[in-house]
Amino acid sequence: MIEFKKYTKGSASTFKSEIIKKLEFSSLPKQKNREEDFVKSLSTLLKKSQTIVYILKYHDNIIGLIALSTNSMGNGYPCLQIDYIFINASYLAQILPYLDNEKPSRYLIEFATNIALDIKKLAGLKYLALKPDNDKLHHFYTKDLGFHSLKKTEWLFVKL
Ligand SMILES: CC(C)(COP(=O)(O)OP(=O)(O)OC[C@H]1O[C@@H](n2cnc3c(N)ncnc32)[C@H](O)[C@@H]1OP(=O)(O)O)[C@@H](O)C(=O)NCCC(=O)NCCS
Repeated sequence: MIEFKKYTKGSASTFKSEIIKKLEFSSLPKQKNREEDFVKSLSTLLKKSQTIVYILKYHDNIIGLIALSTNSMGNGYPCLQIDYIFINASYLAQILPYLDNEKPSRYLIEFATNIALDIKKLAGLKYLALKPDNDKLHHFYTKDLGFHSLKKTEWLFVKL
């Protein structure tokens, strides 16, 4: 069974003590450190109500996570920001039948898009946006996931 588990300020300590140790980070030391730093920073953001983390699970196995907050891309246009997206190493690059035959990364982006569309019905919101961690990921988001670059910034966005 597929389920999303939500972590907020109230469950920040559970995220820190129980979830982080179940994540499978990269086998490359530098990338592993980067991923661990990002995930630890999510604990801090959770405690300050600055993000909400959604853990995607399949039969109790963690597939990945996505962390969401609101922002304005520096140009006044409100967006739902993807603070971090992470797929457990054993699920990377896999198309999964139980995720509508999609890769978990796309499934999580679609989940975020649906949340953004729900918010948009209730409050002003124009984009789903993120800042990619590096140039290769910039290419991945634009080529594979339909994001566009916001000129002269690091932001990538899709219009809602
Ligand atoms: C980014 C991510 C969510 C994509 O999930 P996915 O689609 O299942 O993963 P894939 O392994 O198929 O990666 C897609 C592409 O991005 C590249 N990529 C993935 N993570 C990368 C990273 N941290 N740095 C540079 N390139 C990366 C892969 O090499 C691959 O490129 P290719 O299509 O040319 O082979 C997943 O790779 C991940 O969790 N990475 C670690 C955390 C991270 O870097 N999050 C993004 C922060 S902006």
